[in-house]
Amino acid sequence: MYEFSRGSFPRTRLRRLRRHDWSRRLVAESSLSVNDLIWPIFVHASTGAQSVESLPGVDRLGTDLVVTAAKRACDLGIPAIAVFPVTPPELKTEDGAEAINPDNLVCRTVRQIKQAVGDALGVICDVALDPYSIHGHDGLVRDGDVDNDATIQVLARQAVVQADAGCDVIAPSDMMDGRVGVIRDALETAGHRNVQIMSYAAKYASAFYGPFRDAVGSKGNLGGASKKTYQQSPAQSREALHEVALDLAEGADSVMVKPGMPYLDLIAGVKQTFAVPTFAYQVSGEYAMLAAAAERGWLDRQDVVLESLAGFKRAGADGVLTYFAPEVAQWIG
Ligand code: PBG
Repeated sequence: MYEFSRGSFPRTRLRRLRRHDWSRRLVAESSLSVNDLIWPIFVHASTGAQSVESLPGVDRLGTDLVVTAAKRACDLGIPAIAVFPVTPPELKTEDGAEAINPDNLVCRTVRQIKQAVGDALGVICDVALDPYSIHGHDGLVRDGDVDNDATIQVLARQAVVQADAGCDVIAPSDMMDGRVGVIRDALETAGHRNVQIMSYAAKYASAFYGPFRDAVGSKGNLGGASKKTYQQSPAQSREALHEVALDLAEGADSVMVKPGMPYLDLIAGVKQTFAVPTFAYQVSGEYAMLAAAAERGWLDRQDVVLESLAGFKRAGADGVLTYFAPEVAQWIG
């Protein structure tokens, strides 16, 4: 009697909402905008662009190119840039003292950028000794170990020197215990109460940093040594929440999870647990993988990059440090 009997069709068809672009946009749970991008750049002490073999398309920028890059970031609407110095080998020492030289490359670069673009662009600086030490470790090595408490004193001075130069955001990437609190106190004492701390709170001992170490020239310094006594083991997840809790209690304004794609569970966990600004670092090895596969025509560069960034947003990241930043800003801007 009835042509349509109950249950002969799926009443709930998820495909209805997916049928048209307008509808897919309307129900989108997350989206990526240029406001989500932080652009990490490498700077070297001389002039011109230097390519990095393991980071095709990412150049180390000379002092003559820094302002152009900063202006480009502003034009593209990218909110912030992260500056990583390539320290000339002759300036590397056992104690990495160049890190606290107020006229070192990173400080000169920050002054250059701030003079050119002022507050139109946030400038972020890493705090750690690895670009400056002959052993390539993030801290001071004593008796074969990275000495936590001696290191954080130097890191606090490094942070103040960078803030004096005009850095807006101090990003401790060293994974020493207690460093955020000491850095916060040092910044307050030096009058930098509005300088932010974005802590690399959950930073893993990762093989994905290889191309970065090529870019800043610290790979040879580190040799076969690892950073496993201070960076987290990839096996850990709850420990990352402990790290984040401590850094927040010590005064971090925002936190970071690093690397990115293999650690999306942490981004979701941190965001859900603490509801604070949470950033992901799509690190050099992630860039290299995607760039290499795209170069071979195995993956579509734009599609996979945008999909990878969508993943960070979906997981709960408020922003992503990515070497693809200017390219992405062009695509979506
Ligand atoms: C330095 C630092 C590293 C990265 C950012 N800051 C390397 C490391 O810890 O060895 C890696 C970034 C990347 O791979 O893109 N402490």
